[in-house]
Amino acid sequence: MPDITTGAPRVILITGASAGIGRAICSRLGVRGNQLVLAARSVEGLQRAVKEIETKGGSAVAVPTDVSDPNALETLVSECVSRFGRIDVLINNAGVDCFAEFAELSTEQILQTIETNLTGTILLTRLVIPHMLRQGAGSIVNMASTAGKHGPAFGAVYGATKAGMIAFTQGLRGEFHRQGIRVSVVCPGFTTHGGIYDRIVQSTGRGTPAVMGGTDAAHVAAAVESCIRKGAPEVIVNWPPMRPMFVIREMFPRLGEMMILTATRKFLKRISTGSRAGKVDER
Ligand SMILES: NC(=O)c1ccc[n+]([C@@H]2O[C@H](COP(=O)([O-])OP(=O)(O)OC[C@H]3O[C@@H](n4cnc5c(N)ncnc54)[C@H](OP(=O)(O)O)[C@@H]3O)[C@@H](O)[C@H]2O)c1
Repeated sequence: MPDITTGAPRVILITGASAGIGRAICSRLGVRGNQLVLAARSVEGLQRAVKEIETKGGSAVAVPTDVSDPNALETLVSECVSRFGRIDVLINNAGVDCFAEFAELSTEQILQTIETNLTGTILLTRLVIPHMLRQGAGSIVNMASTAGKHGPAFGAVYGATKAGMIAFTQGLRGEFHRQGIRVSVVCPGFTTHGGIYDRIVQSTGRGTPAVMGGTDAAHVAAAVESCIRKGAPEVIVNWPPMRPMFVIREMFPRLGEMMILTATRKFLKRISTGSRAGKVDER
């Protein structure tokens, strides 16, 4: 939807736009009236995304960016503002998974996960917010995970970054809700056509157990669009039964934890073994 006062396109900055869920979000939002600015490290992946959007009549530019590099984030925001004059929507979607036995993680793996998923989100948001304040409006959508609702076994660091994104969202909402800035967090469960999930299936040779539920990238993209329109605080995109388990966990922590572990631990252990063998998160 273009800016109703000026007719100018709505400028949407999205990280992690080169693959998986990010591509699904681009496909959904890459319509006439939206100017997309796509960020990720892979130049080829971004170019493919731009082409796909343009083929459908949308408009997008690629700005190759490593979100774990603070200088690159500054360049991304200044390029966006100097080309289009504003940033209406920021979608912090870039992320890496980190499923492995905790004691076997290297310092580098831990830092890469935190700097990409959490620090990158915080620093980019810090750079974008002044422009939204100047405009008097803006929407921010952070891509967390159900892993942030209850830290997964063999995925403690990943879960910590996603829980951090949820808390970050809550804090920003409280601070900026009177200044026209909407902030939402989306928490997908395992997502088909998201690269992380697809690599897990490849490495383990099977999908998630039915009890863990799941979703697909198109549903996650729809949830992102809905957050931009309605500014919901948090959207869990995962068909039951994980959602009721989170409610039970809030009310009865020990019982809830036992249920979640029974439903997930064996599968997560299998993922961590695949990861140790170097099969997960290899592109
Ligand atoms: N798939 C799932 O089951 C699932 C479930 C819940 C939440 N999520 C979350 O959804 C988001 C997308 O996941 P996905 O499954 O679509 O993963 P994916 O297919 O691996 O895509 C990850 C995206 O993030 C980008 N990225 C990674 N590191 C980056 C960095 N340092 N700087 C800039 N961009 C970077 C990747 O691009 P480059 O490699 O080109 O940089 C890619 O575009 C992540 O935040 C993930 O945690 C996924």
